[in-house]
Amino acid sequence: MVLTVKNLAKTFELSLTERMIVNPFYNISFHVPKGCFMGIAGPSGIGKSSILKCVYRSYLPTSGSILYDSELYGRIDLAQTDDRRLIHLRRNEISYVTQFLKVIPRVSAQDVIAERLLPTGCGMDEARAKAREMLSRLRIPKELWDAFPATFSGGEQQRVNLARAFVSRPRLLILDEPTASLDDRSKEIVLTVLREMKEDGTTMIGVFHDWDVMGKIADHIFDMSEWKRETVASANF
Ligand SMILES: Nc1ncnc2c1ncn2[C@@H]1O[C@H](COP(=O)(O)OP(=O)(O)OP(=O)(O)O)[C@@H](O)[C@H]1O
Ligand SMILES: [Mg+2]
Repeated sequence: MVLTVKNLAKTFELSLTERMIVNPFYNISFHVPKGCFMGIAGPSGIGKSSILKCVYRSYLPTSGSILYDSELYGRIDLAQTDDRRLIHLRRNEISYVTQFLKVIPRVSAQDVIAERLLPTGCGMDEARAKAREMLSRLRIPKELWDAFPATFSGGEQQRVNLARAFVSRPRLLILDEPTASLDDRSKEIVLTVLREMKEDGTTMIGVFHDWDVMGKIADHIFDMSEWKRETVASANF
């Protein structure tokens, strides 16, 4: 099992006027086998993105464990691991894609993607060649390859974001509505790349805006719509 989440909980403390605790979820448990995609569905605000952020560890969970079988360190609890290991895992094994591109100023689209490959020991020429191949697959016009993504359209930025994640062939891929502003043709291409990655052994967890798209890629859907705060939620394949 690549990912095993046990009794995960996340509480937010808001202290605007008075102390207020927001508890989007607790007792979330699921596991994801190697090369499988687990989709998370449910109404807005239920905690889908927060679960993904806990797995990527941009949110520190309040309790619970996120056991991940890493290549670098073996089985590791992402809820507990130190920042140094986390940085190495993010560079080499775990990618996270949202609908928004974090634009790096004055770096071309081609290099934004190529840079993702450098920590893996790939040379710049080879990295650029792979970046161009991915840009072409995701239908980014050639004249934009050397331009800065800050000026790109929402859909183009989203595809650069996806290209960045796809090119490094991560072991674990976390997707939060990555196709939200793509047209149907681009969505189909993204699905094709995701299927290839699954066949290569990438494990995935994600939320898709569109049930139709999620249904085409997910091996299992963890549906939080019936989830009640007082019950234990679990999803097993
Ligand atoms: N950093 C934060 N600080 C305070 N509250 C937060 C924070 N992040 C999320 N929340 C709260 O946690 C709850 C779950 O938010 P989350 O973004 O995980 O929902 P979601 O299921 O992804 O919704 P959507 O489908 O709209 O994207 C919301 O009530 C949100 O306000
Ligand atoms: Mg969300």
